[in-house]
Amino acid sequence: MSNAPIGVFDSGLGGLTAVRQLRRILPNEDIVYFGDTGRVPYGTRSNSTIKRYAMQDAKFLLKHNVKMIIAACGTVSSVASNLKNDLPVHYTGVVSPTCFAAAKATKKKKIGVIGTSATINSHSYRDLIHGFDSEIEVVEQDCPLFVPLVESGFIDKDDPITRLTIERYLEPVMKAEVDTIILGCTHYPIIKKAISQVVGDSVRLIDSGKETAIYAAKILKQNNLLCADKERKGKNEFYVSDTPDGFENVASVFLGENVSYTVEQINIELY
Ligand code: DGL
Repeated sequence: MSNAPIGVFDSGLGGLTAVRQLRRILPNEDIVYFGDTGRVPYGTRSNSTIKRYAMQDAKFLLKHNVKMIIAACGTVSSVASNLKNDLPVHYTGVVSPTCFAAAKATKKKKIGVIGTSATINSHSYRDLIHGFDSEIEVVEQDCPLFVPLVESGFIDKDDPITRLTIERYLEPVMKAEVDTIILGCTHYPIIKKAISQVVGDSVRLIDSGKETAIYAAKILKQNNLLCADKERKGKNEFYVSDTPDGFENVASVFLGENVSYTVEQINIELY
């Protein structure tokens, strides 16, 4: 049993999709979150830069004595997958839990994968799905404008700019008649309602943040690392590398009004 916090990081707000689920499944656990808002987006950067950023983010969380690190970022999980070999604590990215859920969900064996350019160019989701079942057709599409839209607060399901952008990016995916779409970037579930309105209810959207949180909870349980006191209410600490203002606004909408937490700005270059 361990009362140490769970560490979660992302380039910005996207990892909150994992935090939201963790809070639901494990409400008594403490969570330390780092959003690298000063350096977002990661998805348009080179692989070596993404790997360096990911290691700094993990080092920052280790300073908080976390018992597990969740890279709640499709880009880091795709490009810096060997990060886990360099860490002294349990680690998961988002790709494997998400692929597993999608391969199970598709009836027509046709899955769409949307993510950042770095994620889509790595083919990480496609390759892993084919490892589960080589007959599944995978249609990949990068959506580079989604992360800036979310980080700028364009998250309302009826926002016309968001809707138009979704329509444009998802046209080839829908033409391929997929029945399941992996939201392969953890920012995307924040605009899940808007995406669902465009693709329709019959298409199953797989939320990478949610699937990863469920998987992380399983790992902690298997390793007897869950907090022993089931009555306590977990604390949430958020750290960002740019001004906390924008983060706080979207976080409060996304995590729920009555969530109490602190947000502090840190210098990630020190790690
Ligand atoms: N949430 C990150 C991901 O899952 C966003 C990446 C970015 O910063 O471009 O890929």
